[in-house]
Amino acid sequence: MDLALSKFGNRMSHLSGVRAIMKDIIETLRSGQGKDFINLSAGNPVILPEVEQLWRDCTDQLLSSPEYGEVICRYGSSQGYQPFIDVIVEDFNSRYGLNLSDRNILITPGSQSIYFFAANAFGGYTEDGTLKKIVLPLSPDYTGYGSVSLFPEAVVAYQPKLETFPETHRFKYHPDFDRFAVDETVGAIIFSRPCNPTGNVLTQDEVKKIAAMAANYNIPVFVDSAYAPPFPALNFTDMEPIFGGNIVHCISLSKAGLPGERLGVAIGDEEIIQVLQAFQTNICIHSSRYGQAIAARAIGSGMLADIAVEVIRPYYQNKFTILEATLDRSMPSYLPWYLHRGEGAIFAWIWFEDLPISDWEFYQELKQVGVICVPGSSFFPGLSGDWPHKQQCIRMSLTASDEEIEAGMQRLAEVTERVYQGVMASV
Ligand SMILES: Cc1ncc(COP(=O)(O)O)c(C=O)c1O
Repeated sequence: MDLALSKFGNRMSHLSGVRAIMKDIIETLRSGQGKDFINLSAGNPVILPEVEQLWRDCTDQLLSSPEYGEVICRYGSSQGYQPFIDVIVEDFNSRYGLNLSDRNILITPGSQSIYFFAANAFGGYTEDGTLKKIVLPLSPDYTGYGSVSLFPEAVVAYQPKLETFPETHRFKYHPDFDRFAVDETVGAIIFSRPCNPTGNVLTQDEVKKIAAMAANYNIPVFVDSAYAPPFPALNFTDMEPIFGGNIVHCISLSKAGLPGERLGVAIGDEEIIQVLQAFQTNICIHSSRYGQAIAARAIGSGMLADIAVEVIRPYYQNKFTILEATLDRSMPSYLPWYLHRGEGAIFAWIWFEDLPISDWEFYQELKQVGVICVPGSSFFPGLSGDWPHKQQCIRMSLTASDEEIEAGMQRLAEVTERVYQGVMASV
């Protein structure tokens, strides 16, 4: 059937960024070609037994409580299920010394929807036809931001500064405050902390500086805390979440074991929350109340925060340690490879300076030796301009087994050597 789609219809019915690459990855894995692939592309968290048990226990409690019918057999408020909102208010107030009320909270179906609501409520064209931008202060960042706005031209990202440590083959991104600028053309600012894909954690000062620049123009700053403390607490370096003023702290329960239930929480200024809530009412009424009811139990008992620190964080931190130790052992030390500092999240990000081929070609080379990564160029949504760095990185997931990570890094080292040598031999 030849469907006559609208402009928005066209935009929203296309796969963008990493989703398009995922299609190639799924086809590669399916076709198999006689290979057992080491899949380091996955974004899905590992099912950890202790985490699964917690959600099972919370479900048992809900099933045997008189609350059950009320939770699943009825619609509720768009803002969220009140017992869950109350638990979030209490937990964050006592944990961080805040003064939140329930008017500062919105529960959404996953945190990705917060960014969609925000990007289209605060970004896009205003009544007088001017474009309000959705700004990513530091690129690379989460590929999902590339398709949050109904107007692709609204998403604008900034090239970062690189701090390099050549002796140890490490590096770290920082926002480049000589480039990054905020004015009345900006509608909202979004960044992930810890960052998918790089594992970077913007420093306290960097976040405060960005928020202060935005506050001058009453611009909300959405801090995507999908990997942050208190849950899932996937930070491997000290970090304090920052609240108040124009900052909207956005939580996801996906990496804390509930990706299937779709639960996100926005914590911020009452007026911003009201705008997002109205958007949500129009789109989907509210998030699943079953997910909210079990999350209220897991968070209210303190169990989720404990399991995050005792189980989830050490699990992925250990994977990162194995990955970096194997790279340090196997990668040719005379070549300019750089691993981003592992400050959090569930990925490792590697930059190959002066890589003789593109990241997409490098991904194909790795496929030939049975390793699947994600080429880095999909993680620069909104970044215009020629910057070779965009084609010089790959993302590796920390969700594989220890043995697979070790073997994968050894094969990566061989491919790296061959790729650079090919060029050296030809000059
Ligand atoms: C940085 C970041 N933000 C948001 C999301 C989406 O999370 P959710 O499942 O809460 O929609 C992800 C998922 O991987 C992510 O990595």
